Amino acid sequence: MNTSSPPPESHSKLSLLELPAMKRRGQKIVVVTAYDAPSARLADAANVEIVLVGDSAAMTVLGLESTVPATVDEMLVLTRAASRGARRAILVADMPFGSFQVSDERAVENAIRFMKEGGADAVKLEGAGRTLTRVRALIDAGIAVMGHLGLTPQSVTLLGGYKPQGRTAAQAHRFYEEALALEQAGCFALVLEAVPPPVAARITQALKIPTIGIGAGVGCDGQVLVWHDLLGLTSGSVPRFVKQYADLSSTILRALKTYVADVRAGAFPEPQHTYTMSAEELELFEAELAAGASRRQARE
Ligand code: KIV
Repeated sequence: MNTSSPPPESHSKLSLLELPAMKRRGQKIVVVTAYDAPSARLADAANVEIVLVGDSAAMTVLGLESTVPATVDEMLVLTRAASRGARRAILVADMPFGSFQVSDERAVENAIRFMKEGGADAVKLEGAGRTLTRVRALIDAGIAVMGHLGLTPQSVTLLGGYKPQGRTAAQAHRFYEEALALEQAGCFALVLEAVPPPVAARITQALKIPTIGIGAGVGCDGQVLVWHDLLGLTSGSVPRFVKQYADLSSTILRALKTYVADVRAGAFPEPQHTYTMSAEELELFEAELAAGASRRQARE
């Protein structure tokens, strides 16, 4: 088992087949969300395997209270932008609530939009149940699918809030069976969100496809964090499972306050932030203005 060596750096698109191979080799898979080109470019430069354009964007960038209102059109704009930054990483687009629940046909149509218009390499769908037939329909249409079990934010009302899942034997067993069914249906990877680590580890052992944990412990084959949580850009509290690797909110606020103070004090811009003009051209310009002014005076 080799858990220490990072994957080799390369600029060509990572193959989906590399993911189960990494699982077999015991190499962790790194996933991060990103919703625009510069963020996806940075994630790519950090050598992550997957950039997920999560519908968490509804909350992190669109300022909404939950992921439920996110629309296909909104997610498409973000996916298209992220696709311009994620050159090497596999780009997965989250299918928002309502984009796949109604029918297999609607799911295939919307997933195709994410591939063709959004530039996604794959899509992610939450849940099992009817999602299983959607997964089969998408794969039948040639679209790679990532599954998502445990805390599935699109069902937050049914779940009674953003609560950990799979903490009873019955629920844990249900997730275990659903995970096997999603693998059987053809998912290439499975997100496990907010489930106890022993449950996630048992599911991980039972699957050939990699599991990507978020609040599911170190026994998963990989981890995912939301961009804003990871970098300290989330306002308010973050879930227990978040590790904040930077405090960019403070850095950004400090920079903005300095900018505001500089502008108000006339300290910005300085000469090096402006463009030069030759003395002759400036003289000509002044002469033309003076001539124009006397012509206007003569007319009045
Ligand atoms: O929307 C999202 O960002 C996600 C991840 C948290 C897995 O689904």
